[in-house]
Formats: sequence, C-alpha cells, structure tokens
Amino acid sequence: MADAAGTFAVVAVAALLSARARFHSPRLLVNRHVFKSEHFSDKDILLQLVDAKYQTKLEAHNWDRLYEIGPCFATLAEAMLCGRSLAEAVRADTRIGDELRQKLLANIPALARAMCEIAESYLCRSLPKSKGSKGAASSSRDKKASKQVPRVVLRGQRTGRRYRPVQFLNRGSAGVVYSAIRVDEDPNANRMANALQRAMQNAEATTTAEPRDNRLQGFGQRLRGAISMQLERQLVLKQIEPTQRSSAINEYRIASTLAENDEHQTCVTYLDRLDESNERLWLLLRRVTPSPYGVDLAEYIEHQFFEIGDTANQGIAQLTVLQLLRGMDYISTQGVIMRDVKPDNVLIDYHLDLANNPHAMSRWSDFGLSIDIGRMSDGSGLRSPLTVHELGEAASTSDDPIKDSLVAFWYDTQKLVPKPKWVGRRPPENCFQDPTRVHISSYDLYMMGIITVSMALGIDIPHIHKNDVKAAFESKTGIGLPDDYLTSFELGQSIREESENYLPHFQHSFGDEFGAALLRETEQMLRHDPRERPRPIECHGRLATLSPAFQRALVPEQ
Ligand SMILES: Nc1ncnc2c1ncn2[C@@H]1O[C@H](COP(=O)(O)OP(=O)(O)O)[C@@H](O)[C@H]1O
Ligand SMILES: [Mg+2]
Repeated sequence: MADAAGTFAVVAVAALLSARARFHSPRLLVNRHVFKSEHFSDKDILLQLVDAKYQTKLEAHNWDRLYEIGPCFATLAEAMLCGRSLAEAVRADTRIGDELRQKLLANIPALARAMCEIAESYLCRSLPKSKGSKGAASSSRDKKASKQVPRVVLRGQRTGRRYRPVQFLNRGSAGVVYSAIRVDEDPNANRMANALQRAMQNAEATTTAEPRDNRLQGFGQRLRGAISMQLERQLVLKQIEPTQRSSAINEYRIASTLAENDEHQTCVTYLDRLDESNERLWLLLRRVTPSPYGVDLAEYIEHQFFEIGDTANQGIAQLTVLQLLRGMDYISTQGVIMRDVKPDNVLIDYHLDLANNPHAMSRWSDFGLSIDIGRMSDGSGLRSPLTVHELGEAASTSDDPIKDSLVAFWYDTQKLVPKPKWVGRRPPENCFQDPTRVHISSYDLYMMGIITVSMALGIDIPHIHKNDVKAAFESKTGIGLPDDYLTSFELGQSIREESENYLPHFQHSFGDEFGAALLRETEQMLRHDPRERPRPIECHGRLATLSPAFQRALVPEQ
C-alpha cells in the first residue's frame, strides 16, 4: 500500500515537472533560434499558436481532406512545446498527407516564417506603436487625416482605364472608401473632377447641419442629388491599408469570381484593382446609391427605418430579407463562405420612383474575410502551399510564396473568423464543416439569423457588447441579460425560450404574417447544430409566398 502510494507520488511529481517543463522551458523562453522574431521568444510564438482564443484546430472542421492541403499549426506548436524540432513535429502528425509532408519538410524555414507571422499578427498588438507598427491601430489623428482625399490618379489593372478618388465616404477595417470618377484622356476631365470635389464638400457641409428626416428636402440635399445624377458618381475606390494587402487581393479574387454569374446582382460588383505602388493597393467597386438613412444596413437599423412599420417600409423589410437570402444562396453555389455576415456588410441601393415611392436593393459586400472552397465544394479554392502556383498574381508578386500560402491557409481554415466581443455572434461550431456533411451556407446563415433579429428590433445586435446596445435590447425585449452574456448569451436559445418577446417586433417591422413566419425561420437559422439549419433558398421559398411586396414585384403593374 505504502509502495503504491509512493509510486503514485513519483508519477504525479514527474507529470507535474513535465507539465512545468512544457510551459517553462528556460531554453524556449529566451531562444529565438527557430522563429527569429525581432520581438518575441520562440516560446511566446508557440504559446500564441496554441491559444484557442485566437484559432481553431484544423480538426474542428471534421474534414480530413484539409490535412492533405495544409498543416494544423496548433498541433505543430504543441509538439514543439514538448521539445520536438519543427521537422520532427511535421513528421509526427500522421494525419498530414504525403505530398504535403514532402513539401513542408523541403520548406522548413518558410514554415517557421509563416508560424512567426501568424503569431506576430496578434502579439505585435501589445507592443508600443513605434515598435510594432504592423499591428498597431491607427490613431484618431491618422483617421482624421485620412478623410482628406489623396491626390492620385490610378490605372485599373484589368481595364487600363484611369480613375481618381473624389470624396471620403467611410472607413472600414481594411481601409478607406472614397467615391470616385473615371478620368478620361480628355483634359477637361481633371478640371471637372476638381469642381465636383469642391461642390461635394460644400453640399456635405450643408446637409450634415440638417436633421435626418424621411423626406429630407433641404437645398444641400437637392444639390447633392443633382450633382450625383449629373456626373454619374457611381464608382467607389477602396484604399487598402498596407497590412491588409494580401487579404484584399484575396477579396478581389473572390468578389470577381462572384461577379461572373451574379445575374440578380446580389453582390456589390468589384470592377478592378489598381496599384498605386508595390505597397499600396486600391479596389474599384460599383457605387451603391445611399439614402437619407445611409448606405449600409447598420445605418438603416440605427435610424430606425424598419421600426416605422408602415406598408412601404414593411415591404422594403421583406424584400431586404428575401434579397439577402437569394444572395446568400448564390454565394454558396459559387463555393464561397462570407464569414463576416453583419448589417455593416450589407449595402442598400436606394432610389425614389417618379411617384416618390422608395425602392431598395440589398447586396452583400466586403469579402475581406471570405473564403473560397471551390465551386465543387471540394476545398480546391482554399489557399494552400499545394495550390500556390494557382494563386496567380498573389503568388507571383510575393517574394516568399510558400510562407504566404501557409499564412493564407491558416487564415482560411484556422483563424477564428469573425472574432466578436460577443461570442454568440459567431456560429457555435466556430468554423465551416466538411461540405459533404454540412451545407456550406450554414455558417453564414447563422449570422443571417442575427441580422433578421436586428432588423426586427431596430438594434444592431452584433454590437451588443456596447452598453447602449445592450440596454436597448433589454428594454425592447424585456429580457435581462446575465453578467456573463458576452460568453453565454445565445440568440437562438433566447428565441426558443421567449419567442413571445420577439414576435410583436417581427410583426411590426415585417407585417403580421411575414413577421411571424420569419421569426420561425430565424429560430431555425440560429440552430446550434449546423445540420439543422435550413438552406437560404428554402427559407426564401417559404417566405416569398407570404410577401405581398415580392408578389407585386413579380407581376409588374400595367
Ligand atoms: N460600393 C460601395 N458603395 C457605397 N459605399 C460603400 C461601398 N463600399 C463600401 N462602402 C462604405 O464603406 C464602408 C466600409 O466598406 P467595407 O467594404 O465594409 O470595408 P472594410 O472591409 O474595411 O470593412 C461600408 O460600410 C460602406 O459604408
Ligand atoms: Mg466592412
């Protein structure tokens, strides 16, 4: 008995020591031999790569095929924390396919550089700005300065035509968006652009002083409308932050693929990419026409557009949901998963007809975090070290293509996307699943469910981490959120348990019958198990028959 207890104690101490050795190896602590990071030890890099707050393991997809095209970085890091070399770690993961293993073993330094870059993309954020400019957020002074329009003329790579930015529109996470015009060879074009820029600034100054109203009639507004009409201000240039360059190249690749067969124009059209320099990339998009409420769905929600609840606005609310569902179905048929579905990334084209009736067309936009798993849903569109030669311009302009393709594989398959403060904004499975078992639209459809609730309540629920949004949610629904709601609150469960708190809002914003049906669909979109979520086109089919606005649009009036 004493012996058994003694043996147990020895085993326990040995286990404890090995765990300590695993995480406190003095050699790893100071060494920078493997990753050669300027700021961080090898151990810092490895601990970052195994941190489940920032990434999923490759196995979370339940899709063995992925191990044939790229490695699981957390598994490699774990093996190294246990004392293995990087090459040994590659050999030790038996799930890695043979061709991939050969490729990785032949490129160990590139693999180490990729791991270092992935870890640094988070670790650098904690550095003082001068040291870690890579990860540092822009200061408010930078942001103000960026409202000034850069004086550049850019040549489109695809069309060869020349364009220039005219007016600041908005700032996103990847860069700054300006309205733009085409500058032809005509020498008057530049003069016209300057006049337009001045007129726009004056009009902007006049209109921002007025209160927002459904029927904004002010002089500035009319001037603005007239200028837009006259000069066909229908282009947008997106200036990409240098750190976001490779993701923007991917965005353009995916958005151009989507534009090919998009007969209903369910996505914002990306027209061209333009290089200001080797570092500075711009994208050219078709401009979405703004309304007095703004241009993106978050702005419509913020300005209570759907809470007006009259027949016209209910009709627009119904059509918005139907257009978005049809768009989501189209996107999934192209093998694309958006991953960043939220009201800010829906742009609404708005116009008044001759009888002053509003019309709106909602389109998906911002494919910066999207992934392409291939039109056959076989993984062939994912960026990987085995498809590096197919990545075309992204690979040919890179001076480290294997490293870049490995980092891109991590973005496509292991980075937690999105990474919201409220965890319940992301589907609970955390990443897309084997498409032979789970339809590829299920990941995006979950977040579509959050959009429909946001429209019904007039609250931008993806931002529920903010106190005012949380308070608005609680007062409108009468549902108190627990202290740990940022990690514990799940919208689907809440709807199942307290559907009567949501129903009146759905009926007010969408109309009685459509609203009640949409609430039922929303509960299914937000199912915990992705296999239980319907396909977007099924929801569309069930809802379209209940929408008078949709039926009217099908039969044009004589
Ligand atoms: N084609 C467009 N037409 C009009 N406004 C646009 C267009 N594209 C972007 N914007 C405006 O710029 C904002 C940021 O654009 P987005 O593509 O979402 O950038 P990011 O990838 O940086 O988030 C949008 O929310 C919208 O207000
Ligand atoms: Mg965006």
